[in-house]
Amino acid sequence: MWTPDSWRSKVDPQAVPYDDAAALESACARLRELPPLVTSWEITRLKRLLAEAQRGERFLVQGGDCAETLADCRSPVIANKLKILLQMSLVMVHEGKRPVVRVGRFAGQYAKPRSKAVESREGVVFPSYFGDMVNRSDFTEVGRRPDPDNMLVAYSHAAMTLNFVRSLSAGGFADVHHPEYWELSFFRRANVSDTLREEYERTTSQLAEALRFMEALHESSVEELTRVDFYTSHEGLNLHYESAQTRRVPRREGWFDLTTHFPWIGERTRALDGAHVEFFRGVQNPVGIKLGPSTTAPQVLELVDAVNPNNEPGKLALVTRMGASKCADVLPGLVEAVTRAGRLVLWVCDPMHGNTQTTPSGLKTRDFDDILREVERTFDVHERCGTHLGGVHFEMTGEDVTECIGGAAGITIDDLDRNYASACDPRLNYRQTLEMGFRIAKRLGSHTRR
Ligand code: PEP
Ligand code: CO
Repeated sequence: MWTPDSWRSKVDPQAVPYDDAAALESACARLRELPPLVTSWEITRLKRLLAEAQRGERFLVQGGDCAETLADCRSPVIANKLKILLQMSLVMVHEGKRPVVRVGRFAGQYAKPRSKAVESREGVVFPSYFGDMVNRSDFTEVGRRPDPDNMLVAYSHAAMTLNFVRSLSAGGFADVHHPEYWELSFFRRANVSDTLREEYERTTSQLAEALRFMEALHESSVEELTRVDFYTSHEGLNLHYESAQTRRVPRREGWFDLTTHFPWIGERTRALDGAHVEFFRGVQNPVGIKLGPSTTAPQVLELVDAVNPNNEPGKLALVTRMGASKCADVLPGLVEAVTRAGRLVLWVCDPMHGNTQTTPSGLKTRDFDDILREVERTFDVHERCGTHLGGVHFEMTGEDVTECIGGAAGITIDDLDRNYASACDPRLNYRQTLEMGFRIAKRLGSHTRR
């Protein structure tokens, strides 16, 4: 039988080696009392929007840092994350001619799975960095020691982030009637090409014009089309944190994980008999599952059955991250199996995690062209299979970092040192993200027209 604690009897391949059981219990006890970060009605609303995306009536744009850090919980950084997510999504609304749902990888993306439990540098060995919810990135004994109180610190930073995101949204930050307010100053300082700037300005002014026109006609869907909400997501990796905030709520069935709207299960923790599938099969939230290139069709069908046994619309997102070179070989078999079984899923493409490479100097990077190629091939596969690609999932930032190579900015391996700021995986910078948005939006538009 499922309970918020039934995962404890299963294997967690990424279990944090907390060494003080009493301190862990006391942090969890406090987390159980603290108010939720999100509400059940927001979760239910998002599920409805994801069901629309599943049917091809909406598109999901999900993105943010690989690893959020406590240090980056600052107003300009948060505002820039919203801006780039908003701008990317507006481009898609305009070209793709369909509404978008925006989901940030923020307000909780503080726990990271690692391929190695320990890191060694010049003969010194400490635990790996598992994200600010667990330990610190400083390579010292104290820094790398997992401390359960970091869950409380992460909770409070998630709350501060969310508070600011909600205030900005409510205050008209993202009022699409006035794109001129939120984009110009940003564009002036941003390092974008004139063509991109002009294309974007043309898009936003056409968008504002179209809105005025529709409102003049009293078109009832305007509110729905222009309403700008941001939902939150993170990898539900640390199950102590997730389960402590999982509750029943008045007048609704079931249990809600109230740390975030839309948690996902990572590629390393999606074992059918593992702790993460056990935990997330019991919550009402929509759930994502990352699927890497080694995924088989029987595995997917078992996961779908476990996490969404009632075939509920909007409940399950399968986030494929195959890599540009493997996607055309692996994905069709999975899509066909799910379709043949009559299972409702939202297909999402994460074109980042299958395309990571390491430079000769040891930096992780990704090539803009590989990323774009994976998105395009994923569109091709769904087109051939008669299914919808319902969304994209990016690691991206509103800052001018140099972590991914390529794009019109022409970032090369030699530029990576200039501003490599990620605490984990390489993100598309501001300009690369916008450029990617335009490329995908064009494809989305041609799909819609067909
Ligand atoms: C991530 O999204 O940062 C991540 C670790 O992804 P995956 O589980 O797909 O490797
Ligand atoms: Co990542």
